[in-house]
Amino acid sequence: MRFIFLGAPGSGKGTQAKMLADAEKIMHLSMGDMLRETVKSGSELGKKLENYLKNGLLVPDEVVNDIVRAFINGNNSGGFILDGYPRTVKQAEFLSSITDIDSVIYIDVPKEEIVKRLTGRLSCKNCGAVYHIVNKAPKTDNICDICSGPLYVRDDDKEETIKKRFEVYENETSPLINYYSGKVKKIKGLGSVADVFGAVKVAA
Ligand code: AP5
Ligand code: MG
Repeated sequence: MRFIFLGAPGSGKGTQAKMLADAEKIMHLSMGDMLRETVKSGSELGKKLENYLKNGLLVPDEVVNDIVRAFINGNNSGGFILDGYPRTVKQAEFLSSITDIDSVIYIDVPKEEIVKRLTGRLSCKNCGAVYHIVNKAPKTDNICDICSGPLYVRDDDKEETIKKRFEVYENETSPLINYYSGKVKKIKGLGSVADVFGAVKVAA
């Protein structure tokens, strides 16, 4: 199966997409993780992208289209999950030109909850695993349970940038709910991670 995970920043796309990819043994592309890796690499492209990410703005479509094309060409797991892509109608049109999508899982979370989630998020510098200081605390403070890497707060998880990301989501990305209307399965993203995953599995 070929899935897209759609939802506002902090709705739990990354958390749920990883769980579903493990359960279904398919590949998971987190576009945000790929872009952060590119910035971390210090390459010329990374330097160009840094300010977009820091300020919660979308990077140019061509950059993410190239990444998704390479991912799809290299995928041999019989299915995939795209998390954080597409984010504009233009990107969705590009995606349609290179592959079909079976299902779009849309995780719906109210705005007030988003801020709570993102201001408490911790991410692993090594493996990208995601935690939350209250909802999903690591066993040892600031250390990843999986790879023992250091945990950090993402540059864009500041209240002002979160607001900007939400605004960009509403203007640029939420029209995709309509674009994919025949394929969208709406999941309530409130409740525990396990409860939400139960709903994701039913929808998938
Ligand atoms: P990206 O990394 O995709 O950020 P995002 O969409 O803002 O989404 P997040 O990763 O912040 O949230 P999430 O939905 O994955 O939630 P998570 O599972 O972590 O993109 C970052 C930037 O890259 C963009 O701003 C843009 O600049 C650029 N970019 C990316 N894709 C692009 C594209 N296609 N085009 C152009 N530019 C692009 O969960 C959040 C927190 O909540 C965690 O702490 C988690 O532990 C907690 N949590 C999860 N589920 C629950 C639950 N059920 N209950 C309580 N807490 C929960
Ligand atoms: Mg994410």
